[in-house]
Amino acid sequence: MTAPALVLGIESSCDELAAAVVRDGSEILASRVREQVDVHAPYGGVVPELASRDHVRGVSAVAEAALAQAGVTPESLSAVAATAGPGLVGSLLVGLSFGKALAFRLGVPFVGVHHLEGHLISAELADARLVPPYVGLVVSGGHTALYRVDSRAARAVLLGQTRDDAVGEAFDKVAKLLGLPYPGGPALSRVAGSGDPAAVAFPRPLAGEPGYDFSYSGLKTAVLREVERRRPLGEQDVADLAASFEAAAIDVLVARARRALRDEGIGRLAVVGGVAANRRLRERMAEAAKADGFLAVFPPREFCTDNAVMVAAAGARMLASGVRHALDLEAFSRRPLGSAVPEPSR
Ligand code: KG4
Ligand code: ZN
Repeated sequence: MTAPALVLGIESSCDELAAAVVRDGSEILASRVREQVDVHAPYGGVVPELASRDHVRGVSAVAEAALAQAGVTPESLSAVAATAGPGLVGSLLVGLSFGKALAFRLGVPFVGVHHLEGHLISAELADARLVPPYVGLVVSGGHTALYRVDSRAARAVLLGQTRDDAVGEAFDKVAKLLGLPYPGGPALSRVAGSGDPAAVAFPRPLAGEPGYDFSYSGLKTAVLREVERRRPLGEQDVADLAASFEAAAIDVLVARARRALRDEGIGRLAVVGGVAANRRLRERMAEAAKADGFLAVFPPREFCTDNAVMVAAAGARMLASGVRHALDLEAFSRRPLGSAVPEPSR
């Protein structure tokens, strides 16, 4: 089956609300993202109820803006896709309900998309050489996991994941410890640029252990101890601690990805999710790819963080393979890929 002509995608799983229009499964006609930095900045982290309330205020305007940018009317849409999970349920329900209501009104098919399938599809869209089998490293505020993708991203097999904090969460928490502005990950990465990554030899959690799991809470605690030891922190302390933390956090990601590729005998890697926007992760993984001879694909930065292009494109693929979801599809807060959104239900 061919991809449906025009799919509107909606993403609202956390603090970003996004809408996009994709033609024929891969051509991006519009992509809009409404961020909530100002809403959550006073609290130093995402407040779920405030996120969903802001989504309620913004959802129709963001969808309209995407349609206007694409130059298409709602009536010309072939289908609607929305993220069904994982994520904050209150946030998810806004985009999901809006998407279902629009599909109902237009009488077109609806599909609910797994957020992580969307992230992986961002990499597939970025480089046509990224075809299964490949290894997917998902690194975001909510996830740190390695998957093996044999056929479709939706059927990916989990190889390992974090036992505690996600790597993006660790970036955000360490940024807060260092007194950096919200959102922490990008701010930490910026100041790390003027620090010495070898200033403090932070632990590389689980480095000596077999397998593909991750752990970031111990690293975060090690940074806290060093912060307390050095207080009051000068500008150079902050830069050095940021650079040393970043080096440790990234080392583990690169080492685990290399191991998975080697053990699985696979030569292609996708690195996706918000932390894939990190410059030093991109550099270090590119060095490893050159040394070991694998293909490392990172989506363009704007499609690393949450967006709706990935939802529309993933939805288009599901629709092309005959998947439709009934309008009673529920949101889910947690579910690994592979046991993805129920399919098919027509
Ligand atoms: O994929 P995403 O937008 O949302 C989730 O699904 O979680 O990822 C957001 C996460 C945040 O933790 C943010 O701090 C992190 O990605 N992030 C970064 C960078 N840009 C975003 N972490 C490190 N370096 C960056 N440049
Ligand atoms: Zn995400």
